[in-house]
Formats: sequence, structure tokens, C-alpha cells
Amino acid sequence: MPETTPRAPRGPSGLAFGGDYNPEQWPRDVWDEDARLMREAGVNLVSVGIFAWSLLEPAPGAHEFGWLDDVLDLLHANGVRVDLGTPTVAPPAWFYRAHPDALPVTADGTRFSFGSRGAICHSNADYRAAAADITTRLAERYADHPALAMWHVHNEYGVPVSACYCDSCAAHFRRWLARTYDSVDALNEAWGTAFWGQRYASFAEIDPPRATPTVGNPAQALDYRRFADATLRENFVMERDILHRLAPGVPVTTNFMTALSQCDSVDYWAWGREVDVVTNDHYLITDGRRTHVNLAMAADLTRSVAGGAPWLLLEHSTSGVNWQPRNPAKAPGQMARNSLAHVARGSEGALFFQWRQSRRGAEKFHSAMLPHGGTDTRVWREVVELGAAVEALGAVRGTRTEADVAVLWDWQSWWAQNLQWHPSEDHDPRERADAFYEALYDRHLTVDFAHPEADLSAYPLVVVPALYLMTEAAGANLRDYVENGGTLVVSYFSGIVDEHDAVHDGPVPGPLRDVLGLTVEEFNPLPAGGGVRLRGPGGAELTGDVWTEFVVPRGAETVWTYTDGLVARRPAVTRNRLGRGTAWYLSTRLAPAALDVLLGAAAEDARIAPRAALPRDVEVVRRSGDSGSYLFAVNHTASDAKVPLEAPGTELLTVERAAGRLAVPAEAVRVVRLDG
Ligand code: GAL
Ligand code: ZN
Repeated sequence: MPETTPRAPRGPSGLAFGGDYNPEQWPRDVWDEDARLMREAGVNLVSVGIFAWSLLEPAPGAHEFGWLDDVLDLLHANGVRVDLGTPTVAPPAWFYRAHPDALPVTADGTRFSFGSRGAICHSNADYRAAAADITTRLAERYADHPALAMWHVHNEYGVPVSACYCDSCAAHFRRWLARTYDSVDALNEAWGTAFWGQRYASFAEIDPPRATPTVGNPAQALDYRRFADATLRENFVMERDILHRLAPGVPVTTNFMTALSQCDSVDYWAWGREVDVVTNDHYLITDGRRTHVNLAMAADLTRSVAGGAPWLLLEHSTSGVNWQPRNPAKAPGQMARNSLAHVARGSEGALFFQWRQSRRGAEKFHSAMLPHGGTDTRVWREVVELGAAVEALGAVRGTRTEADVAVLWDWQSWWAQNLQWHPSEDHDPRERADAFYEALYDRHLTVDFAHPEADLSAYPLVVVPALYLMTEAAGANLRDYVENGGTLVVSYFSGIVDEHDAVHDGPVPGPLRDVLGLTVEEFNPLPAGGGVRLRGPGGAELTGDVWTEFVVPRGAETVWTYTDGLVARRPAVTRNRLGRGTAWYLSTRLAPAALDVLLGAAAEDARIAPRAALPRDVEVVRRSGDSGSYLFAVNHTASDAKVPLEAPGTELLTVERAAGRLAVPAEAVRVVRLDG
């Protein structure tokens, strides 16, 4: 990527505020009102044209850019910058009539139809050519438009179709395999095809993991996920390179969806390296859990994918969405807390899906900045207020969120772990990641996520929730980390298989045996609804569920012991000293409150000083950099709170001096720029 490409949207200093703007859904007289109201709300960045291919090219080769020229000119005249979409997620009907093979096929052979969005086989040569063509034309036409701040390629790669299983993908997969493996024998070895007679004599015999009578080859399934992800990335890179060539200096993004519940099919560690600006879409999942904790986790993961650098929240909702079973409105003030919690964790602004609520189409019941009810509405008033708040926080731009601990995360391990025929269907790696995150959140510790092979030396504490797939290199990395003084906490079902889903040689957990000072002789998952008791220091008791193991200490000390069931009197939690550091191991599932006991002990080993008493659900996060140091306090509770300040400063939203204990009213946000 050219050195000159900025890592943020081009445009005014300060934070970005705005949303997806779809003027093609509205008559022109509405556009003037849009521009006026955008000014009123302080909007300075909108994403345009993401789904507009059929309007930009109504017939093959017949382009109509006039309307988009007018939109960009109007926005420019009103001081609004544009994140300009390449509309390649929504090819027109005529394209599919000409190229029906571009419609993707499911593993059981169903070919999707036109009439929604994202119906794309990314291996299809006609699709690639058409996507390159429309991208080229947009770049040629708008490269120098003064409103252009950033390119928005495609939309949310990985959803709604994560992989296609058609014949053209099969051929593409074979080429990918031939590049990945030196020979078909190397593939046979890696995939373990001696099992169930799956040996291949040539690459030509290999198909995608289509429907099979019983479980298919897990290594094949895992490689197909890698292939599908790489194929999506090839198409992103193709568009990005066209845009870089024709519009040098304009950053290129594509909107991620790092929350696992929303997209789990792409490896964002790899994607983060390809984009100029990491952007994310985040929607609250209202399934009864603490939505602000899930939001914080997604924001931390997004920042981590950006390498700790600032990123941009490109979509979230002002109020309810329309695609969950039940879509409650946000409570008064919740939108601002959500937006500013993202900013606290590194976002350089807050954008929404979408600017004006649609009247037609599948998303007419999704909230927007400007609701059906217009400006005399609660949502609009809160949007205008938030616009002012975002403007008041402009100085935080470019600063970095400070993290206390690292949690290891790897999408490839997640893919492998979700393959079939494992010891217990009750074990859910995402649940483990959520639970450890929640326990750390409740200790008011800020989390960076890290790839298992990343440099961990900056973190006093590293947590490994359930990292089933772990390379030898990752194991060596963790060993170095501990030997050099780090504190590691590892949860069960980690370090089990290598990159081909083959169990590591020797006793489990292969690459972690030395660092943890133990082996695991057998897994012993519990019956549905069953529990197990543990006794620890001073006779304290905890209850686990889902999972137990026969742990054999080989150097580690036993800290907690099982007291019932098949594992009675065996170690439940162990601690191993290695070099200058310590490695803890937990062999059962503990809920976040019980995990806190273990994390408390590990935090002591890591010499992480306990946070000054803060109420649960009062979130305190710091950003710092050249422009200063900022403390964000987000009060998710219904009571006023006090947050201790390490230095006096100026609260930026009220423009009042603050010292000692900062008052954060119920459900409010405060941001203090600390003196010094
Ligand atoms: C996003 C998508 C938007 C809109 C939004 C609704 O995933 O990018 O176009 O559909 O969801 O929540
Ligand atoms: Zn295909």
C-alpha cells in the first residue's frame, strides 16, 4: 500500500459524525432537506452509494453518474465529506440474467436467486470483471472530488454468504490447494486422508466440502473456510488496488463486523493488514446479556485488529434494529453511551446505519438518525445532542486507548473448534471468550485482543479463553512470554490441535505442556445441566459445569481441587512457575463471577494493582497521545457515580473543571482531559 495513503478519512480535524446516506431512495426535493438537517446535526461524514450499482449502471455499459455528481456536490456545499461506496455487493438484475453462474451455491447445492443483496460467487470471473469495471469508473470520475474522504469497498465481506460451493469455486479451491500444498501427498498427510479412505491421487479429485452422508474431513472443512476468506480478500484487494492507482492518497476501507455474533467467517487479523482505515459496524444483540459489555468487547477487538491504532465506527443504530426476533428501542441516553463507549475504545467518531429511515424495502423498521417521525422526535433530538458531544471531543482524535491485559483470539481456532464431533456440544468457545472478557470488564481492566503469535511482552497478564487450535509457534511464544516474567491464564481445551486440526503429538496439550507444567489424560465433559464442585485456598468453594479433565501435574502446583464426580481429588486449577513468570490452568467452566476469583489471584502474580473502587457498570477507559490524556467515564447504571481522577482536568462535555472525584450522573458520559 502506498506510503502516502492516510490512515484516516481525509477531511476536517476532529471526530467523524454521520451515517449511511441513501439519497437514491428519495425524490430530489428531500435531498435539500437532508443537507440542511445534516448541518443542524453536525454531520460531517456520510457513506454513499453502497447499494447503488443498478442506478449507476441501469443497463450494461450505460452509466448514469449525474445524480451522484449532484449528491456529492450538494454534500460538499454543505461541508459534509463522503465515504464513497463501490456498489459491488449488489450487482444489478441485468448482470445476473447475463451471468446466472455468479449466483452462489450452498453446500447442499441450492443456487440463490436475485432479489436481495450479497448474492455473489466471489470466484466468478464475470463478477470480478464487472466489479473491477464499476470500481474503475467510479475512481476515474470521483478521484478528485473535493467531498471524497475515503472509499468504502463492498459491504461487510463474509455476510450474508460466507462461502460458495459452485463448480467455479471448486476449481478455484483446487488452485488454492495446489499453491498451499507442495504436492497432493503433502495434502493427504495434512488432511489425514488415510482415515475413512479419503486419499486423493490428484488435486483434480478434490471438491469443496459439500453435503456428505456423515461428518466430512475436518481439515478439508477448515481449509475451505480459509480459502473462502482468502477469496473474499482477493476481491477486496483487487478493488483497493484500482482505487489506490486511480485515486492516490485517498484511504480505502471496507466495513468489518468484528462481533462474532454478527460475522464469524473472515479472519480479521488478515483483513486488518489490508485496509488503510479499520472501520466497524456494531449492533447490540438483545438476547438478555449485558449489551454494553458485548459492545466494549467488539470495540476492543476492532482496535486490536487495527494494531491498537484508532479506527472508525462506521455503522451502529440510533435505536432498534429490525432483524432480531424482538427489536426494542434504545433507552433515552443509551445511544450516546453506546457511541461514546466506542470512542473511548478508539473510534474516531460515530456513524450510523442510516441517515434517513427508509419507507420502502426490507429495512423500513430499522431506526435511523432522522426517523419517520421527522425532527420532532426523541431520536432526532438525541442525535443533534450527540453531534454536539462528538464535536466537543475532537481533540481525542489520534490518541490511543490504553489497555491493561491481553486476551488471545484467533478466528482460525474458532473455525476449527466449531467443527463437528468434539467432546461436548455444550462447550462454546465464544461463550468462554465472552465470559473471560466480562470478568475482566468487571475488574475495570481494558483488554487488547492479540493473535497467539503476536508479541505479548507489553502485557503483565495474558488470558487464553479456549484456544483449541494452537500452532507450535504460538506455544513457543507463550513459553517465552512466561519465562520472561509474564502471567498467563489458560482455560481448558486449549493447545489441542495444529493448523490442520491434527492433535499435537504426545500428551495434550502439546505446545502448552511445559509452560503449564501438566498433561491432560482425558476429557470428561459433564452431562447437560450437571455441575462439579471445587475446593481452593482456605477451603473456599466454587462450582463449575460443562467440562472437567483428568489433569496430571508435572511440575505445576494444584491450587483448586475437584471434590466430586469422576474427577474428585484431582486438580481443577493449577499454577506453574516457569522462568520469571507464572502460568495458571483452569480445567472446568466457571461463570464470570467465579472466574473473578482466579483472575484476582493471577492479577496479583502479574502485579496489577486493584482498581480504585468503582461501581459495576461504570466503565472507565483512557485514551492518550500527543494532544493529551483523556479519561472516559460511561455510567451504565441508574445511579449517579463518582470516579476518582489521578489528576485534575477539564470535562469536555460540560466544559467544567474536575478534580478529586468526578461526578458522572446516572446514564451519562463524562470525558476529562487531564492536566499535564
Ligand atoms: C449492516 C449493513 C447495513 C444495514 C444494517 C442494518 O450489517 O451493513 O447495510 O443492513 O446492517 O442493521
Ligand atoms: Zn462459487
